[in-house]
Amino acid sequence: MVAGGAERYRAVGHRVVTGFLQSEVLDVLAALDRAQAGLGVSGSVAEIGVHHGKLFLGLHLLRKHGESSVAIDLFGDQELNIDSSGNGDLAKFRANVALWASDEGLVVHQGDSTALTTDALLGLAGSGIRFFSVDGGHTAEIVHSDMRLADATLVDGGVVVADDVFNQQWPGVATGTLRYLDDGAGLAPFAIGFNKVFFTQPEFCERYRTALEVAFGPRLRVATSHSTFAGHEVTLLLRQGAVDLLRRSELARTTYHRSYRGMVRALRSLSGRS
Ligand SMILES: C[S@@+](CC[C@H](N)C(=O)[O-])C[C@H]1O[C@@H](n2cnc3c(N)ncnc32)[C@H](O)[C@@H]1O
Repeated sequence: MVAGGAERYRAVGHRVVTGFLQSEVLDVLAALDRAQAGLGVSGSVAEIGVHHGKLFLGLHLLRKHGESSVAIDLFGDQELNIDSSGNGDLAKFRANVALWASDEGLVVHQGDSTALTTDALLGLAGSGIRFFSVDGGHTAEIVHSDMRLADATLVDGGVVVADDVFNQQWPGVATGTLRYLDDGAGLAPFAIGFNKVFFTQPEFCERYRTALEVAFGPRLRVATSHSTFAGHEVTLLLRQGAVDLLRRSELARTTYHRSYRGMVRALRSLSGRS
C-alpha cells in the first residue's frame, strides 16, 4: 500500500512495465474495488501468471491495510511452461514492485499453479481472496484447474479476472473456461471487456454490472452494452475508435463534417479551383 500509488501506476507506471494488459483493465479494477468497499468485501489479492507484474502491480496497489498479495508464477521453472504463455522473470518482477510499490504484504510463490491446493493457497494468502487474476498457463487443463482454484479461494463478493477467454490465439482458454462453467462452477461471468472476463458469485453479479455501467457509461471512449455468455447476463465494455465515436455522437458528426467541408474549401482555393 503506497499512498496514491494505485493512481500513479494507473496513470504512468503500467505503461513502462512490460507484459500483457489493456490499460482500461486498471479502471475496471478501480471501479470494482470501490464497489467491494461499499459492500464491505475484504481479502487478499492474487494472480496466477504474473510475468513481470504488469497487472499484478495494479492488484497489489489496491490492497488495504492487513491484506496480502500473492504472486504465483513458474518464474525460473520455465521448462514447465508447456504452452509458452509469457515468460515469468522473478528479478524483473521484483524490480518493478520496488519501483512502483513496495513488497509490504507481498507473498511470492514459484511453482506450477496446478500443483497448488486450496489450503496451501489460503495459507499463503492468510485469508480468502477478493481479486484473483487467472493468467497463467493457457491450455484447457490448466485454465480449468486455475479457475477451480480461484473459485475455491474467493471470498463472498470476490472477483476473478480471467485473461484471453476470447483470444483466437489461445483456444484452450475458451475450452477450459467453458468446462469450468459446465462443471459445477460457483461463479458466473458478469462482464467482458479489454480481453478479460470478470466472474463473481451469482448473487453479486448485478451489483458489479451496475457499478461498471455507472463508471463507464459517461465515457466517450468506451461503450457499454449487454449480452449473454454461457447462459449468464454480461455487461460488455467495448473500446471506441474514431468511427464509433462519429456513429454515436451527433455533435461529433456535425463537427467532423464542418471541418471536412472547410478543409475541402481551403484545398480548392489553394489549387485555384474555386
Ligand atoms: C501471459 S503471461 C502473464 C501476463 C501477466 N499477467 C501480465 O500482466 O503481463 C503468463 C505467465 O504464466 C506463467 N505460467 C505459465 N504456466 C504456468 C503454470 N502452470 N503455473 C504458474 N505459472 C505459469 C508464465 O511464466 C508467464 O509469466
